[in-house]
Amino acid sequence: MIKFSCLLVALGLACLSCKSEGTNKNQDNSTAALKIEELLDHRYKKLVAYQVDSLGFPRSFTKSKNHIRKVASKDWTSGFFPGNLWQLYKLTGDKVYMEKASKWTAFVEKEKLNNHTHDMGFKVFSSFGEGYKITRDNHYKRIIIESANTLITRYNKNVESIRSWDFNADVWTFPVIIDNMMNLELLFEATKLSQDSIYHKIAIKHANTTLKNHFRADGSTWHVLDYNPNSGKVKSRITHQGIHDNSVWSRGQAWAIYGYTMAYRYTKDDTYLNRAVATANYMTTHKNMPEDGVPYWDLDHQAIPNISRDVSAAAIMASALLELYSYTNNKRFLNYSIKVITTLKTETYILGQDVNAPFILDHSFGDWSKKLEMNEPIVYGDYYFLQALLRLKDLKQQI
Ligand code: GLY
Repeated sequence: MIKFSCLLVALGLACLSCKSEGTNKNQDNSTAALKIEELLDHRYKKLVAYQVDSLGFPRSFTKSKNHIRKVASKDWTSGFFPGNLWQLYKLTGDKVYMEKASKWTAFVEKEKLNNHTHDMGFKVFSSFGEGYKITRDNHYKRIIIESANTLITRYNKNVESIRSWDFNADVWTFPVIIDNMMNLELLFEATKLSQDSIYHKIAIKHANTTLKNHFRADGSTWHVLDYNPNSGKVKSRITHQGIHDNSVWSRGQAWAIYGYTMAYRYTKDDTYLNRAVATANYMTTHKNMPEDGVPYWDLDHQAIPNISRDVSAAAIMASALLELYSYTNNKRFLNYSIKVITTLKTETYILGQDVNAPFILDHSFGDWSKKLEMNEPIVYGDYYFLQALLRLKDLKQQI
């Protein structure tokens, strides 16, 4: 019984059976919780204190070299740092975060015309989209719609999908990656803001094509599909960031769960909800998923357990499961998400006070194919962690 009670505490659920254990245990817990909140607050302040730089969005941090990796606005991750500041404003109510968020957001604006990438949603929706939710600024609204106009130029009618990447043109003809589902949020919102249905229609076409071709019978997803842009047929199913073509690249699974849950939000199409549920079930019950719910970066890696976890995948999945819970009422999704967030809210994952870099969580895993950011603080891990905290708050769940 004691063990079960503690599990409930760890999950952040009401712990009725703790009464007989007296108040000391509760005090210990609340002292520990206070310490974590203080540590988080300390980390949040590192973000707002970071010097504004139109050309250098902080992306990741290599502790061994004490090096902050900064990127230009064209990088797929540029929107997340402004997005973190907008979310911190929502979380704390402190205007200082909003002021900095709007400064950083302005530097992303030129991306609205960049048609060389599918990453428009990541860049523009995480920055201007977050800002618009708070400010309702018409300029932000126009940028979201202009960006959607640029993104749909990458749509191919034969494939009925938006092309993801332009690089490696000698290897792939028309690559579409599962991550691309995330960019549909910008399109769905653009229709809501403009009343022009074109963006919504293209988003649905893309989601349907991905639904048809990208998933395996067991519920997992491939990373990259290469299409013939003339016939629309699938040429190959491969990976770019996973350990092998048929492996379970964790962040890809998380994008899929998030992407189809979000697509359900805008369409109420049950096939999308069922897709999200099936992939969530697959991921959360995978034999190689660690007990604490923070996945290894690839769940099929032969070196498990001696490989890194991916906090970013954990945070994306935790945030998505909260939304999925709100549509399905399936408590298993809520409890799983709370378990992951509770794990991340510990000193194992939160960066220490001494780390002078604008990040919150350690141990995200970037890109094995480039040998880049393997087991580091990465900006998008923080973004989805903060989003998960806000969603928990909306659900009135305390941890
Ligand atoms: N393309 C985004 C990612 O690495 O997950």
